[in-house]
Amino acid sequence: MLKSRRSLLSVIAAGLIVGGLALPALAAPLTLGFAQVGAESEWRTANTQSIKDSAKAAGINLKFSDAQQKQENQIKAIRSFIAQKVDVIAFAPVVTTGWDTVLKEAKSAKIPVILTDRSIETKDPSLYVTMIGSDFTEEGRKAGKWLLDNYKGEGDVNIVELQGTVGSAPAIERKKGFEEVIKANPRFKITRSQTGDFTRSKGKEVMEAFLKTDKKINVLFAHNDDMAIGAIQAIEEAGMKPGKDIIIVSIDSVKGAFEAMMAGKLNVSVECNPLLGPQLMAIAKEVKAGKPQPKRINTKEGIFPMETAAKEFPNRKY
Ligand code: AHR
Repeated sequence: MLKSRRSLLSVIAAGLIVGGLALPALAAPLTLGFAQVGAESEWRTANTQSIKDSAKAAGINLKFSDAQQKQENQIKAIRSFIAQKVDVIAFAPVVTTGWDTVLKEAKSAKIPVILTDRSIETKDPSLYVTMIGSDFTEEGRKAGKWLLDNYKGEGDVNIVELQGTVGSAPAIERKKGFEEVIKANPRFKITRSQTGDFTRSKGKEVMEAFLKTDKKINVLFAHNDDMAIGAIQAIEEAGMKPGKDIIIVSIDSVKGAFEAMMAGKLNVSVECNPLLGPQLMAIAKEVKAGKPQPKRINTKEGIFPMETAAKEFPNRKY
């Protein structure tokens, strides 16, 4: 009888070698270091869950780190993944700039890097293999187009904007896409724009300030659903009807937004899909195996006006 598990494994391994078989069943699983932005929104919670569940399903050893929305924490996490000699590093960059130094360190250690969700600005694209995520500019355009096509009131249209995290790709690109479309009609003007950092609490706080100073707000454009939901509370507390007195356009299409739409308080939500886990795990394995990747892999997304919310709600996965 065999004395230990290790001797049992050696016997199996020897048997497979003698039988002329490779040893994939005994090979170490791929180790993926993932540096997440934080837990700022319903979208992010779904994204984290998707990454954890898919790593498990794919037999990937996941080292997960939550940066609490701070770039310095993400940089620390990446350095720690390098020190631990993980096979692949993936991260959703909090902001677009300031990554070159740490990514050069990963490159020198020969650890491939995959960007998920948010892109970066760099003069050296060889610092990462690929980027998997949404086209945020297109999301902003969809929001602007819906507004131009569906706004019923007359005269000037004053829009207040709740921006995402300052310097983040979704905040920069959603703003750009939205502005690009609305400038086609001079009636539509952004009268105020401030960051709500993608959170409900800041969305509420900034909307309260807008409502105190601005007498006429026709539309709110929120860069994510959480800020829109926070702002809805502020609008109600100010004695107004969200979705009627102020038209609300937001982005993500999380369940909370569907509930607000079904209650008639949010007019439309542009979809941003957080379920990137399965794709990330498949690509991490291919990257480790040396298979070339396209530089950018875009997620397919829709748009949900409030009239479609009740029908769509049962199909929503996040
Ligand atoms: O980067 C994606 C954005 O980040 C989502 O729209 C937002 O909800 C999140 O926090």
